[in-house]
Amino acid sequence: MEHIVSAAELRAATARWRREGLRIGLVPTMGNLHAGHYSLVRAARERCDRVVASVFVNPTQFGPNEDFARYPRTLDADAAGLEGEGCDLLFAPPVESMYPFGLAAATRVEVGGVTEMLEGAFRPGHFAGVATVVLRLLNLVQPDAALFGRKDYQQLLTIRRLVTDLCLPVEIGEVATMREADGLAMSSRNQYLNVDERPRAANMYATLCRMRDAVLCGDAIDAVEREARAALEQTGFRVDYAAIRRADDLGEAANGQTTGLIGLVAARLGMTRLIDNLAIDG
Ligand code: PAF
Repeated sequence: MEHIVSAAELRAATARWRREGLRIGLVPTMGNLHAGHYSLVRAARERCDRVVASVFVNPTQFGPNEDFARYPRTLDADAAGLEGEGCDLLFAPPVESMYPFGLAAATRVEVGGVTEMLEGAFRPGHFAGVATVVLRLLNLVQPDAALFGRKDYQQLLTIRRLVTDLCLPVEIGEVATMREADGLAMSSRNQYLNVDERPRAANMYATLCRMRDAVLCGDAIDAVEREARAALEQTGFRVDYAAIRRADDLGEAANGQTTGLIGLVAARLGMTRLIDNLAIDG
């Protein structure tokens, strides 16, 4: 596996593959890789001849009081894991290479609509940071396919919208959320949980399952959301949202609808903010 830090070298490597007629897959990550990330690499392998993974903790997608400084950085272990999964190229650039004019003066991409609610309401500027860095990565690599996890469902919709609106010639692939044995969605942030919080964190997935079952039984949406919030609060979560939305655009769901929906939850346990979601499709 090649390990590259400069944008120019990355462009040269991918241009060479394109000249050879090879299909290129991109897996953008912020590192601290776990089984969920490796499933993205495997999905990219299945679709493409060459796989590029990026590891970049993107400062512009973190708010001023968020965990940018303490976000786990484990590049050596990530490189070993990627090599083991058959990744061809690791791109791990410094901040100056991704934002050559500095963070404040950087060109930013704002995606409308799907970014405005839920995570967008609680993390202002987050999706502009994600869209900006993903567009830069897509332009640098010019992949045939880029892979994202359903765990960050609103991010996935945002990237699909970005690609459609800006007519980017790339296929966006999605990969199912990987879960621990007790249902907790795999996330680099799970390691912030202490020994008391870790078992309680699994209640987030259990709550999503109850939300799905209640909607499928025909319960009113606002009652399902209220009960989910109360159940999470009872186990010590501070809830940002527990919502049932339309899966295609995150618009309000109608009572009685049992297909094409998704339950989404964001809540804090101690210092750790977790998000998760579950499709509801009767
Ligand atoms: O999902 C992530 O890890 C990040 O938001 C991404 C897509 C790599 C952009 O920094």
